[in-house]
Amino acid sequence: MSEIVLEDLTKRFGDVTAVDRLSATIKSREFFVVVGPTACGKTTLLRLIAGLLEPDEGSILFDGQPVTQLGARQRGVRMVFQDYALYPHMKVFDEKRYSNLSFPLKLRKTETSAIKKIVNGLANRLQIKKILYKRKPHQLSAGQKQKVAMGRALAVPPKILLMDEPLSNLDPQSRLHARDEVRKLHDELKVTTVYVTHDLAEAFTLADRMAVMRDGSFIQTGTPQEIQKKPIDGFVESFVHSYKELSKGLFDA
Ligand SMILES: Nc1ncnc2c1ncn2[C@@H]1O[C@H](COP(=O)(O)OP(=O)(O)OP(=O)(O)O)[C@@H](O)[C@H]1O
Ligand SMILES: [Mg+2]
Repeated sequence: MSEIVLEDLTKRFGDVTAVDRLSATIKSREFFVVVGPTACGKTTLLRLIAGLLEPDEGSILFDGQPVTQLGARQRGVRMVFQDYALYPHMKVFDEKRYSNLSFPLKLRKTETSAIKKIVNGLANRLQIKKILYKRKPHQLSAGQKQKVAMGRALAVPPKILLMDEPLSNLDPQSRLHARDEVRKLHDELKVTTVYVTHDLAEAFTLADRMAVMRDGSFIQTGTPQEIQKKPIDGFVESFVHSYKELSKGLFDA
């Protein structure tokens, strides 16, 4: 429902150019994955799309409409942050009050019975046990926090969903399960998704299309198959090579 166009986007922090004349089109309903080494600008890019940062140059359009001047609340975007950004003083879930999982639903004045149904359904899919509901974020493990952050982002499906390494703290088995659920939820909700990860297996298996990012720009964009078949340079080739080695290891095991 929402195409994202990024035109010559640049964001500097003092001497550091975190995002450097980046242009891309993310198609409506696409699951678009960004991979790249640490500090290449992935989080900065998501924050620009979300409206949490203002670009120094360039523009962002949703469905052809410029949104660069709009604040985060007006953009219809939700972000799962790398550091969770849960509400520290709220419980995981309280059907009657504002809580982490019910927050976006309460804001919309959703009925309690509907809130319960939606949250329990999501919690079930993301394997968030009911025993955790009455806890506050500081009483959760990092992986549990990530799952709650994802549940909160999906409680009211946004037009655009941005996810910043949302599964990085889960053990391999939970991660595989969550990866499948994320993809299934995307296929059901058809939300345009930009998903940042370091995990090559996650990138190559989840993406409709993906971008390899380096030093603030996308150096290659394409389907996982295109990128595997025709890496544009040695840097992308090394990514593809690592992925193939990794998959080999998995199949040998
Ligand atoms: N608020 C800020 N002030 C100054 N520099 C910043 C700020 N935010 C990011 N940077 C710098 O911008 C560059 C890109 O940072 P960013 O967080 O976007 O990287 P990243 O690709 O998300 O890395 P990681 O994979 O480690 O999360 C880095 O050099 C970082 O130090
Ligand atoms: Mg980051």
